[in-house]
Amino acid sequence: MSQSTPPPVAAAPPNRSPGHGVSVRTPIPGPNAQRIIARDERFLMTSTKSSPVVAAEASGMWVQDVDGNRLLDFAAGIGVLAVGHAHPEVVRAVREQVGRLSHFAGTDFYYENQTILAERLAQLTPGTFPKKVFFTNSGTESAEAALKIVRHHRQKPIVVGLLGGFHGRTMGALTMTTSKPVQRARFAPFVGGGHHIPAPMCYRCPYKLEYPSCDLYCAKILEELYFQTSIPPEDVAAFLAEPVMGEGGYVVPPPRWHATIRGILDRYGIPLIDDEVQAGIGRTGRWFAVEHHGVVPELVTVAKAFGGGLPLGAVSLPADYDFPKPGSHSNTFGGNLVAVAASLATLDVIEKERLLDNARRQGEYLLQRLRELQQRHEEIGDVRGLGLMVATEFVQDRATKVPDAAFRDRVIAEAVRRGLILLGCGRSSIRYIPPLIVQRPEIDEAVEIVDAAIAAARAHA
Ligand SMILES: Cc1ncc(COP(=O)(O)O)c(C=O)c1O
Repeated sequence: MSQSTPPPVAAAPPNRSPGHGVSVRTPIPGPNAQRIIARDERFLMTSTKSSPVVAAEASGMWVQDVDGNRLLDFAAGIGVLAVGHAHPEVVRAVREQVGRLSHFAGTDFYYENQTILAERLAQLTPGTFPKKVFFTNSGTESAEAALKIVRHHRQKPIVVGLLGGFHGRTMGALTMTTSKPVQRARFAPFVGGGHHIPAPMCYRCPYKLEYPSCDLYCAKILEELYFQTSIPPEDVAAFLAEPVMGEGGYVVPPPRWHATIRGILDRYGIPLIDDEVQAGIGRTGRWFAVEHHGVVPELVTVAKAFGGGLPLGAVSLPADYDFPKPGSHSNTFGGNLVAVAASLATLDVIEKERLLDNARRQGEYLLQRLRELQQRHEEIGDVRGLGLMVATEFVQDRATKVPDAAFRDRVIAEAVRRGLILLGCGRSSIRYIPPLIVQRPEIDEAVEIVDAAIAAARAHA
């Protein structure tokens, strides 16, 4: 989406009925927000900004902006705030830790809370084999670490990923990232050894087949075509995939796709790296989305929600993939004490408040409500998701399925104007990723705003 600031628009009509939580008093961006955005544009490098929301403070599902507007957050800091903004138990853990010991370089020295978190992550990730953990500071750094681990351990040059996948933007991760051309344009050459096969994407099947009569050709092609032509299986260090494609458009693979891929990988002794950076830590109603697919990956990468709002990522790896000598891989901040405290508190809250159940329950309700919207709005070509990882895809025409990115962008702008924070994904989709604490009234309020935003986007076409 464009980096330029959308022009301020008039305040939304005060059409929220009493009891609704959104409160929009100024245009968004309001005067204070406009001042900050102008300065931001002057001093911050262009990245991926998409909405003119300037946050001042937040609690639970709600964000207060710098002009006093109260906005409903269905973006959760790009899926980071699993237990909502400023959860009291996370805040307490962070405050307590930062005042006691904030940093001690856990890669070079020892402290107990990172050991506790490593053990917990190793237990939570699928599979009962002995595991170890490496802590990072972001999703892309988790991908880098996983790629280095498999290359070093297996001494093989190739990693196979999916076209449309997203794994980060540092050079190794970017080699495997193919969700949009802009992410790769002018950055070549990439790290050697990255290969891709088309992703399983039933709504836009790359082979124009239909599930289930396709017989999962999109999985079988790995062995039947690629391993017979461009990718010698004996040279493959790992296969890398998201369990639900995130940035690429919230694409849920068809049933048994993962099982079929797993079967092929097993025949050749190739490990699976499961990128759970966006889908993991409860987002889909299981700790890891890959659990829905019934397969066990060798390596799992996490970040985003894992840090409870602070920068923290990790790789869980088979213990025998560990580096034999110190110095092969390390960092300074990985497993930072404060981030680890936030992570442990977040995992506790997810368990205590039974947020996996809530994600499943509310996710189904959100899907159902958005499918109702699809019946009324021709522009919604597809509604899909797993748990609270849900998207609507906008098309120019349901028969041709031509993506309508401009319409999607207008819907997001109209929703923000009405007090709902949303993010796009894929070519023309909106993702709905509220904190896992979301309840029905907030889903109802969000869907009502999306409904109005779609109508307004159509009117302003
Ligand atoms: C699946 C996946 N992997 C990796 C990343 C990269 O994470 P980060 O932005 O923390 O580097 C992302 C970010 O969106 C992601 O969705």
